Amino acid sequence: MKLIALITIGLALGACTYDEGPFTGPGQDPDQKSVSFANDIQPIFNLYCTNCHSDRHSKLKLVPSLSYNQLMLDGLRAPYVDIQVPDNSLILGYLKGIPTTMPPSGPIPGFEIETISRWIESGAKND
Ligand code: HEC
Repeated sequence: MKLIALITIGLALGACTYDEGPFTGPGQDPDQKSVSFANDIQPIFNLYCTNCHSDRHSKLKLVPSLSYNQLMLDGLRAPYVDIQVPDNSLILGYLKGIPTTMPPSGPIPGFEIETISRWIESGAKND
């Protein structure tokens, strides 16, 4: 009986930490009004990109201290982030497999791509 009570309390406490919806990754709520670079976008980079896109590897550095300024620089064939025509953003292309998929191991969940897309559509602010 005692054990069941403990398990019940445990489940109740556990449930509280997940009250933001069914998603568990960074940038979790695609319906939220505004997307914050620091709170929603950078955590996605930290999770999927920075093991390669760091100081020692790629031209495009996505580590917290450099990522925003890097994204504001032009990519090779298109701007990484194009506020005027969001679909032209190089970073969105790569996330969707154009010309190749980033990360190379396979695409990140669609709702996280959507979060990045909405950040660009809302002006790609450094907030
Ligand atoms: C396993 C390593 C690896 C991971 C993880 C990875 N990338 Fe890459 N990425 C590369 C390599 C290698 C290149 C091509 C060479 C270069 O730009 O240095 C590249 C190129 C790119 C480019 C094009 C750069 C340019 O100037 O043309 C973009 C944009 C990009 N990655 C975005 C991302 C994003 C966003 C993530 C995370 C969602 C990610 N990558 C995860 C290895 C990786």
